[in-house]
Amino acid sequence: MNNKSSKDDKHISIDPWGSSTIEDYNDLFSQFGISKFEHFLPDISHPHHLMRRGIIFGHRGYQSILEAMKSKSPFSVLSGFMPTGDPHIGHKMVFDEIVWHQKQGAKAYGLIADLEAHAARKLSWSEIDDHARNYILALLASGFDLKTGEIYRQSENKRVKDLAFELGIETNFSEMQSIYGFSGNTEISHIQSVLTQAADILYPQLDHPQPTVIPVGPDQDPHLRLTRDLASRLRLFSVTEAYASFEADAAELEYLKVAFENLSSLQTPLHCNDVAEWIENENQASEALSTITNKLKEASKEEFYPRIRIINHRATPDLLKELESKISKNKQVYKEHIDVFDASHNDIDNMVREFEIENGGYGFYPPLSLYHRFMSGLTGGKMSSSLPDSHISLFEAPESGYQKVKQSTTGGRESAELQRELGGEADKCPVYELYAYLLTQDDDSYAQRVYEECTNGTRLCGDCKEEAANLMREFLKDYQQKIKEVEPLLEQLNPNTPNTEGRS
Ligand code: TRP
Ligand code: SF4
Repeated sequence: MNNKSSKDDKHISIDPWGSSTIEDYNDLFSQFGISKFEHFLPDISHPHHLMRRGIIFGHRGYQSILEAMKSKSPFSVLSGFMPTGDPHIGHKMVFDEIVWHQKQGAKAYGLIADLEAHAARKLSWSEIDDHARNYILALLASGFDLKTGEIYRQSENKRVKDLAFELGIETNFSEMQSIYGFSGNTEISHIQSVLTQAADILYPQLDHPQPTVIPVGPDQDPHLRLTRDLASRLRLFSVTEAYASFEADAAELEYLKVAFENLSSLQTPLHCNDVAEWIENENQASEALSTITNKLKEASKEEFYPRIRIINHRATPDLLKELESKISKNKQVYKEHIDVFDASHNDIDNMVREFEIENGGYGFYPPLSLYHRFMSGLTGGKMSSSLPDSHISLFEAPESGYQKVKQSTTGGRESAELQRELGGEADKCPVYELYAYLLTQDDDSYAQRVYEECTNGTRLCGDCKEEAANLMREFLKDYQQKIKEVEPLLEQLNPNTPNTEGRS
């Protein structure tokens, strides 16, 4: 097995089963390599309000989804839900993200993580069945279209369970320990549920590999990092860029690219040691700089020229030969890789993937992800299914939803006088979040008005909560009406069959 451990594994602090909140979303960018989402806003024709308001804040590799939307090539969206309670208004965000992508043309998947709920949360099957049903109803009431989409339960999806087993061959207990902090006491089924989730994430690609986006909270990022690794370990080949015989990582490649752009017109052929000298003169010292100049100096008189490299991971020598014979471009063949010159990365990538699939390989794209902020609980802290007063269930009586908003903590000051003077703290207020995430829906000017009136002191918490509580009551009424309307659809679905026979 190829047991790569990335350098941030050591001080990992994201626990998918923990109850802690994310303290500082900025750490996610600097420590875990999640990228900011806001740069994409101008490229999306009608971004969802969760995108426009920065609630969807981060991603891994989302540009592939934008490209697929633009070129109308196939892509999918998938997310999963652990049925540990009834779905609440925080889950509604994820339903909306799935449905939004489905409307943009994605093949959509929603899954019930019943195996995970049973193994990691110890719920009985009859509890799971009740909650699973409500998750499915809520997904449908949010607009999920069963004609083009698929909803499944982990326990009933044989292909997912088989793939999970295969994935188990590609990882080992040490890796599980370093990613999740598992110990000798961790139940085997809990570990299996991690592999099941990885299989969920790759499931949309089993028949036709395609970019797949997984909208989740950032607590799920460890699963995404693991699955991205597993997806590449299962590839027969990988395709990378290089400039000489040695390999370079992304940061090092940046230096090489710039050097080639600057030097190629001045000197041919270029030699690696000349490039090293130029890079040292042009740049400030950094870690990537010293590792790359060392590699260049070692390669010394070797010619420096861009190429696309196909690396063999697990193909037989015969298959590698066959691939080689398919490449008409200028190429150089080595024992375990082929360098192709004057070709586009994308073209070679697609061609190699097709070849891999024709020859029985998976051809997976690394899965992509989209991260949203967690909704705060109405009692402060995280909104949680296990704390009834912290959340509002989508199935809750509208009147009870009204009451919970009225009792919510706020970002208000100690007295009305002080609030008029200093303004409220909308950024710390769960009620403001209700407006921004849910209650103002697509109306940006409404959300903005609440924010401004709060922070400039003209809005006081009593009235503000009354307004939000009324909207909440209306929202729940409408939503529950939709739930009634979609109920007949449940009969079309397998997951409706109870899963309880002979089990607890
Ligand atoms: N682990 C997720 C949760 O705790 C549920 C889940 C299972 C999931 N499989 C998934 C989420 C695949 C996204 C993609 O809620
Ligand atoms: Fe929150 Fe509204 Fe009070 Fe502002 S006025 S702190 S938004 S409840």
